[in-house]
Amino acid sequence: MTTTVRTQVAIVGAGPAGLMLAHLLGRAGVESIVIDDRTRDEIEQTIRAGILEQGTVEALLASGVDTRAHEVGARHDGIELRFEGAGHRIDFADLVGRGVWLYPQHEVLQDLLGTLLPAGQDIRFTTKAERVEDVDSTQPKVIAVDADGGTLEITADFVVGADGSHSVTRKAMSGSHNGLYREYPFAWFGILCEAPPSAPELIYSNSPNGFALISQRSDTVQRMYFQCEPTVDPNAYSEAELWEILQSRVPGTTLKEGRIFQRDVLQFRSFVARDLRRGRVALVGDAAHTVPPTGAKGMNLAIADVLLLDRALQAFFHDNDTRLLDAYEQTALHRIWKAQNFSWWMTSMTHQMPEASGFDRMRQLGELRSVTDSRAGRMYLAEAYTGWPVDLHI
Ligand code: PHB
Repeated sequence: MTTTVRTQVAIVGAGPAGLMLAHLLGRAGVESIVIDDRTRDEIEQTIRAGILEQGTVEALLASGVDTRAHEVGARHDGIELRFEGAGHRIDFADLVGRGVWLYPQHEVLQDLLGTLLPAGQDIRFTTKAERVEDVDSTQPKVIAVDADGGTLEITADFVVGADGSHSVTRKAMSGSHNGLYREYPFAWFGILCEAPPSAPELIYSNSPNGFALISQRSDTVQRMYFQCEPTVDPNAYSEAELWEILQSRVPGTTLKEGRIFQRDVLQFRSFVARDLRRGRVALVGDAAHTVPPTGAKGMNLAIADVLLLDRALQAFFHDNDTRLLDAYEQTALHRIWKAQNFSWWMTSMTHQMPEASGFDRMRQLGELRSVTDSRAGRMYLAEAYTGWPVDLHI
């Protein structure tokens, strides 16, 4: 059975990028259909990034998303960079007058779905996009399979791929060799545990044994990561071993331990798609780029793409003006490559490369000192971490 529907904008993927775009377009009277192969519960429970730039929270609020970032989230005005057994605070408030919010991605997704579904937004869960067709026409199509195995064909004036790093939309636009990337010789082992916070702010720690990040979720649940081999089995370690590794990665501080109730391994990759737009098809979020998690940029970049594309699509649908659409790729790439650089830099400065020589190790400590000893150094980190301004005229 094939069902055919038509809409102005077909959005593939109900992650933060796809849902935020549907929300912004809906407010401006542009109709869209969002599809995702996951159930609503799966979407709302996916454990992902935890940090929102201040500008991202402001964009959610300004656009009328019913966000609980201010109630459930926590504002952080700094982070600690730790190396050689000592902590060095990067004071965002003092350096750049801005901050970030610790507010996990699944909470943002709950906010977006809680705003969109009551407003009648067409979101089709358990509907898997198989391919995008007629990319070079004025009526591109998304072909999908629904939960019952039926075919759904969505004909649209515009298709947006918000379908993550394995994007089928990107494949239709650019084929398989579709971007610039770099791999890293390590991954992150992540845990969630039942414990109070070990420190008031996040700790990014460079230790001779490898990197660790001591992040948080709430007063009673903490998120922590340590650098590991990309092939490690999440069940390879006992809880006692995990605590021993984590403690050894933050010399000079003592972590508060508690029951570990989730563990996962995050692969590291940097990627930027070759084409962000082709005719009436465009990419946003992880479909367009992947960053390693060290700079906490992933979800923020996705929202920044969406703010640009929303404005371009409004000009297109309301005024038949394609200038912003024509500029989308260039404008988005400007920010994306700055974020790529920052994420790569934070990673390279804090992780141990397997092949590092004695020289490399000493140079890395010199680099960390250049950042923490100097107001200009700290200020660059603070500016990039809290986020370059997003235009909020939405
Ligand atoms: C997290 O809490 O999941 C988190 C925080 C900061 C990062 C990456 C991940 O840089």
